Amino acid sequence: SDRMNIAIDGPAGAGKSTVARKVAGQLGYVYIDTGAMYRAVTYTAQRAGVSPEQTARLAELTRSLQIDLRPGDHGQSVYVNGEDVTASIRSREVTLQVSYYAAIESVREVLGTLQRQLAARKGVVMDGRDIGSHVLPDAELKVFLTASVEERAARRYREISDSQSITLRQLESEIAERDRLDEQRAISPLVCASDAVVLDSTGMTIDEVVAAIVKLSRTKL
Ligand code: C5P
Repeated sequence: SDRMNIAIDGPAGAGKSTVARKVAGQLGYVYIDTGAMYRAVTYTAQRAGVSPEQTARLAELTRSLQIDLRPGDHGQSVYVNGEDVTASIRSREVTLQVSYYAAIESVREVLGTLQRQLAARKGVVMDGRDIGSHVLPDAELKVFLTASVEERAARRYREISDSQSITLRQLESEIAERDRLDEQRAISPLVCASDAVVLDSTGMTIDEVVAAIVKLSRTKL
């Protein structure tokens, strides 16, 4: 085949989604933001009053969701059962809780199955935490994208500081805590796959990171 799958994993705020979207654009591939799927489940569960501890209710709710990712103006629009939740899933309530919902087995099972289906015909760039290590272990190219926690917090701060009142320090500790939860969960934690290329984007521009990944992809076909 002339198409491959590319997995881009890494900690929160490393620039994965922006980079993955641009790489997909340059290669004519489909970009899939798996974090948006975990956020969509979290938002819907919160609204239904279902906590991560209510595992049976959460499993049932997750299985009842039709999650669609569609190309939008700024990346990807996310729909749950036909409702546009693109903005809602970026709220602070969702961000602070998503790692607890993402640790639940039924949630990971349902979303992992959906992700594998979307990648079955190849030609996807998928970003997340466990794509190279768990969801698509046969992906032709795996990138583990990192940056220092200070830089990741500073980037996020520039993105959100207008709309949400939070200090840089607070953001830094929230990002570090989310990484800790994602790294320490029992099921498919955030981990660098043994065959992944590690890219530290500290001090690199987005376009430099994109160019590096596109170049790597040329070596794999
Ligand atoms: O990528 P983003 O920061 O939007 O992801 C939100 C959360 O979703 C992560 O902190 C993690 O808990 C969860 N997630 C996951 N596995 C993935 C993608 C995201 O557990 N493949």
